[in-house]
Amino acid sequence: MKKVYIETYGCQMNVADSEVVASVMETAGYALTTDIKEADAILINTCSVRDNAEQRVLGRLTDIRSQKREKKLIVGVIGCMAERNKEDLFKAGADLVAGPASYLDMPNLIAQAEMGSKAINVELSTSETYAKIIPTRIGMGAISGFVSIMRGCNNFCTYCIVPYTRGRERSRRFQDVLDECRSLINAGYQEITLLGQNVNAYGKDLDENKDFADLLEAVAKLGIPRLRFTTSHPWDFSSKMIDVIAKYDNIMKFIHLPVQSGNDEVLKLMGRRYNREQYLSLVKEMREKIPGLSLSTDIIVGFPNESEEQFQDTVSLVDEVKYEAAFTFIYSPRKGTPAARIEDNVTYETKSKRFQELVKHLEKHIEEHSRQMVGQTYPVLVDGVSKTDAGMLSGYTEENKLVHFKGDETLIGKIIKVKILESHTYSLIGEIIDE
Ligand code: 5AD
Ligand code: SF4
Repeated sequence: MKKVYIETYGCQMNVADSEVVASVMETAGYALTTDIKEADAILINTCSVRDNAEQRVLGRLTDIRSQKREKKLIVGVIGCMAERNKEDLFKAGADLVAGPASYLDMPNLIAQAEMGSKAINVELSTSETYAKIIPTRIGMGAISGFVSIMRGCNNFCTYCIVPYTRGRERSRRFQDVLDECRSLINAGYQEITLLGQNVNAYGKDLDENKDFADLLEAVAKLGIPRLRFTTSHPWDFSSKMIDVIAKYDNIMKFIHLPVQSGNDEVLKLMGRRYNREQYLSLVKEMREKIPGLSLSTDIIVGFPNESEEQFQDTVSLVDEVKYEAAFTFIYSPRKGTPAARIEDNVTYETKSKRFQELVKHLEKHIEEHSRQMVGQTYPVLVDGVSKTDAGMLSGYTEENKLVHFKGDETLIGKIIKVKILESHTYSLIGEIIDE
């Protein structure tokens, strides 16, 4: 049987998409392999959200192509870069290029590539949700699984390429999502993460009269031990959603709530549809209704013409919210987006200095949160052997903090109690507490 190796870059949605592709490839006669050396086909699932992500893939492609192989190898590039970069991708040695809505066409594309022709399908779709596909789970064993509940995005934040690469928002049917969650639970999964570019918008395009709060509640009731979701746009995060999160113990008290900037003018130019005050009052409502809530965020530094004062508004917002986790990015112009047309008077050096300053503030708060956890005991879902120390296991607390501890590998996939002994900025060290 021929073998396919899939390499995934970018967001969790891409991880979920790779599982759809793995499933479709099986129907094309390919078995999945985790050893790139034995692959007959290599598929690279790509991200376009920033330039460095795209450059890495182009480098990787050249790299793969430069290695001599004994057998014929098909190299495919799939995902967000497909449409935008098709010429460069073929030039760098791709045999096959497929966009995020063309994965059902993979058997046909692979057949073309096997015959020696260049294969391409980068059509966008307004309806494709891969409703009939049962994803082939690639990640760590049957512990934690992604379930994509919708595809695409309608928000068109002015800096963002996603609505162009992934197309319009469309939701999967309520029962289909529940069925997929049920099958994960039956297979012994301990954790499900519901995925969408903006999960808050779930159901708006359906005729089922169900919103994301309804879906979250229905999945929580199925009895999965841990339920998470991402990503949520602050402008349409409803009070009903907050109430559901507060009500169910198995919905993790962890919300990813990208703020992008703390300055009203910049937020407006970004097309974010909320201002600083509205964001902060949403955070207040969440923290009041959900005790022990952890918040994480995304922030873009150096939006075109961002002034020092505007940047300082972001710093002060970070100091006010005191996030438990954060992803920070230097703005990367994406051709085709409105923001990329703005002439920018801020140097990269200034942006980079501001970026460092912001990270210092974020890390101070994250370290403080981690320090406060020392001495306390938390339930941890053991996900495997630590990536940094083979003698240790690793896992995540409910608030999504990474913990390392000594223990037997038979604990992998179980939720156990761990007492925190030591804190670092991005991880904790603990010991297992016997019940
Ligand atoms: N430049 C930098 N960061 C970006 N993001 C999206 N588009 C860009 C861009 N052009 C960030 C946002 C988003 C995260 C997934 O990536 O913060 O929330
Ligand atoms: Fe991009 Fe905004 Fe949609 Fe997120 S909500 S994917 S940042 S356009």
